[in-house]
Amino acid sequence: MEKLMIAGGYPLKGTVRISGAKNSAVALIPATILAESPVKIEGLPDISDVQILKDLLEEIGGTVEFSENDMTVDPSSMISMPLPNGKVKKLRASYYLMGAMLGRFKKAVIGLPGGCHLGPRPIDQHIKGFEALGARVTNEQGAIYLRADELRGARIYLDVVSVGATINIMLAAVRAKGRTIIENAAKEPEIIDVATLLTNMGAKIKGAGTDVIRIDGVDHLHGCQHTIIPDRIEAGTYMIVGAAAGEGVLIDNVIPHHLESLIAKLREMGVQIEANDDQVFVGPAEKMKAVDIKTLVYPGFPTDLQQPLTSLLTGAEGTSMVTDTIYSARFKHIDELRRMNANIKVEGRSAIINGPVQLQGAKVKASDLRAGAALVIAGLMAEGVTEVTGLEHIDRGYSHLVEKLNGLGATIWREEMSKEEMEQMKNA
Ligand code: EPU
Repeated sequence: MEKLMIAGGYPLKGTVRISGAKNSAVALIPATILAESPVKIEGLPDISDVQILKDLLEEIGGTVEFSENDMTVDPSSMISMPLPNGKVKKLRASYYLMGAMLGRFKKAVIGLPGGCHLGPRPIDQHIKGFEALGARVTNEQGAIYLRADELRGARIYLDVVSVGATINIMLAAVRAKGRTIIENAAKEPEIIDVATLLTNMGAKIKGAGTDVIRIDGVDHLHGCQHTIIPDRIEAGTYMIVGAAAGEGVLIDNVIPHHLESLIAKLREMGVQIEANDDQVFVGPAEKMKAVDIKTLVYPGFPTDLQQPLTSLLTGAEGTSMVTDTIYSARFKHIDELRRMNANIKVEGRSAIINGPVQLQGAKVKASDLRAGAALVIAGLMAEGVTEVTGLEHIDRGYSHLVEKLNGLGATIWREEMSKEEMEQMKNA
């Protein structure tokens, strides 16, 4: 098992290229199940979630070629193999196999998903949607069983705006009979990306990116080629890195429009930002000011950038308040930041950060993906060396993190953990 070592305080400069969007990739790959001939997805990120989904498609009989960042899936010989256990439990997004397999085979058995622990993460809205389309859904020993004689279009109102439920219902509905209307749908860019792939496959979808999506079911979907959108959360993370430790960092391959809420907040803090069509330049801030942030559904401030931004705010003058309205327990990084000398307290769903403080290198543990990103940023800002364990979380979502940061002039490396350290971690 490895840990990440970061020698803080080195000024970062240069260009970093953003990879394909993780939260699109984890839906696009299962979506290929719905086609009857090969689908090619270009620009996938090199992360463990993508690798696991590739293995799962092979488990159900798909032929998958994956080289560099391009994946070609031939779904023609897939079968509706039950997946109650095993790799399916390693990532939350394996729930997209439910919608895709239900759409293609009218049945699926999928183990309840794992993923980051951010407080309760129910999937009742996904199930409500599948049931409205005519599926019978039961939960047996930790696996969801879905079966339908046929899927029929329906009008579905989501009680909670959910990215996962919106995409999952789209996946099941594209091959249902008749029209499905999803009301109070989520509007995240990843939903548009999945709708674009499905449309290229022959699906009839209108309104993706608005809160009403209309789908007219078709009998067959065919293969196609699709290029994934850039990862707005990875791009946002590197923008925060640039603000935290940069002397001029250019983020390349980004859609600035997807990050308007972060750009506005960084400017409010005093960070220089310039954006063009597909690049964002982050200049240094003379002095950063405290700001308040409330996470909201898109286009509001993304919950996935709340943790990385908290690290940056430790260096800002004044008191900042970060409130997460999406997840109740996305604050596991705070105790670790405190070990690094941060002055933060958590009250309910808010973190209150008093700054500026000089962070100090320490041994810290990433409890989830974006907590990991927050600790890496803190490590880059800190005096001395920071050791981050829990790399399996970071590897789920950040493609070539060490190479990208070293390319900007950071001093960061992976190191094998000693037996004693592994023991200590197990007992912690
Ligand atoms: N919710 C329900 N019932 C449901 C579904 C969701 O109550 O059936 C609640 C959730 O508990 C949460 C809120 O609705 O409070 C929003 O959840 P949503 O379904 O939108 O989240 P998700 O689809 O499970 C995706 C991303 C997350 C990101 C959220 C919010 C993927 C694979 N994951 O999760 O990404 O935080 O949307 O934008 O797309 C990450 O990348 O680190 C990450 C956790």
